Amino acid sequence: MELNSEEIDKILDLATVLKKEAKQRIFRKLLMDKVLAMIFQKPSTRTRVSFEVAMLQLGGHAVNLSISELQLGRGETIEDTGRTLSRYVDAIMARVYNHEDVVKLAKASSVPVINGLSEHYHPAQILADLQTLLEAKGKLKGLKVAWVGDGNNVCNTWLIGAALMGIDISIATPEEYRPLKEAVDNAQKIAKDTGAIIEIIDDPVMAVKDADCVMTDSVVSMGFEQERDKRLKVFIPKYQVNGKLINRAKSDAVFMHCLPAKRGEEVTDDVIDGPKSLVWDEAENRLHSQKALLCYLLLDENEIFRNLSHS
Ligand code: CP
Ligand code: NVA
Repeated sequence: MELNSEEIDKILDLATVLKKEAKQRIFRKLLMDKVLAMIFQKPSTRTRVSFEVAMLQLGGHAVNLSISELQLGRGETIEDTGRTLSRYVDAIMARVYNHEDVVKLAKASSVPVINGLSEHYHPAQILADLQTLLEAKGKLKGLKVAWVGDGNNVCNTWLIGAALMGIDISIATPEEYRPLKEAVDNAQKIAKDTGAIIEIIDDPVMAVKDADCVMTDSVVSMGFEQERDKRLKVFIPKYQVNGKLINRAKSDAVFMHCLPAKRGEEVTDDVIDGPKSLVWDEAENRLHSQKALLCYLLLDENEIFRNLSHS
């Protein structure tokens, strides 16, 4: 919600250049001496490693801080943590249980704060997803994405991302697992300008009809483990992305999933390992799009373009 369509376009353009040039390492000084603090209240594979490698490959450094290592774990406030870290580092990325924590952290910090996933949103993921879809389809505007499954943090953020980029999105979830009202309202407001069509229904077959991309995510997100049995009964098999369902989408439709996947639950092996699946490119693009995001937040535009023109 803090980026507009033009800013996302710029970040995606930069991500494309950084990806193309990744092997040459010509941007290895772009973030020289910059430091990113990473706070993790929940586990992570992709977010943890891609942010750390992004900083390292651009000449900076990342400090990984799990909750048990911080005074935060012993009751220091998130605001005081942000005020302190702001005196040492250039940016903070935080993965939190309560979205309010990342909001408080951002308010108290004097450096940029990136949401590395909360129970409500996962914006760093959606930048990578947009990059992946753009690579596959050559455009974003006018595409149709189908989301099948839980109306969770990734789905909420996709609503915003789709609305901003003029992508139609059809979300099929059970009635009691609809996306966040705030995300739906904001997406609908943005869509009035961009022309994106936003649809929230309960029928996965209708959602995937004419879709260019079918997406899903775990039906038991981190923090909801105690609801596992109940959720599996509601979601599986109706909201499983399997060969039969994806074949109802366009013939050239692609499959995306932020990972980690629970194979055999929200997605079957034939889909995630099949020819339509982009999940490994999607995971890789976390690295490139986050490099672009970090440059966007930490450098002024002239500095970025000066570096690009030297390439
Ligand atoms: N997609 C994603 O954020 O993965 P991790 O939980 O492994 O970071
Ligand atoms: N919805 C998932 C995403 C994991 C990257 C979760 O919150 O656990």
